[in-house]
Amino acid sequence: MLDRLCAIIPDHPEPGITFRDLTPVFADAEGLHRVVNSLAEPFAGEFDAVAGLEARGFLLASAVAYAAGVGLMTVRKGGKLPREVYSREYQLEYGTATLEVHRDALPKGGRVLLVDDVLATGGTAAAAASLVEQVGGTVAGIAVVLELDGLGGREKLDPWKVHALQRV
Ligand code: PRP
Repeated sequence: MLDRLCAIIPDHPEPGITFRDLTPVFADAEGLHRVVNSLAEPFAGEFDAVAGLEARGFLLASAVAYAAGVGLMTVRKGGKLPREVYSREYQLEYGTATLEVHRDALPKGGRVLLVDDVLATGGTAAAAASLVEQVGGTVAGIAVVLELDGLGGREKLDPWKVHALQRV
């Protein structure tokens, strides 16, 4: 299903980069249903909340949380949240970026499943996981649709349980 629906765009956003666009998967009723269910499957009964990583992770995390009957915590890019935050800087290919969560994002603590669309270098997920811990949660695992092999993402997230629907 992912092979059929995921759009592959060579040389985007720059020469040599192959971009994988998941929007056709989300646009397909069965595709969205299967992706959302498959993301949470290995973690059934192991999480009390879901963390969605801005921006594309929000699309999936919200559905996973709704289906599991748990709450959603939003991990946002820097400067967007209106109240007191914890921040983590992480590395981009060129420069750095920041993720933030509200300090009271997880009032009851608990086990948090991180959900995103793509795992590449792992910088985003590692920063988000560390923020989950800072607000008093434990990381139940990290679920992504696509994992880009060879960029060291999974290694960076060791020893957390990483579940990818497809590795490319
Ligand atoms: C993409 C993707 C992941 C992250 C993975 O998000 O949605 O969150 O990059 O990369 P990494 O493993 O190397 O950190 P992006 O920062 O492009 O944000 P967006 O979802 O707002 O487009």
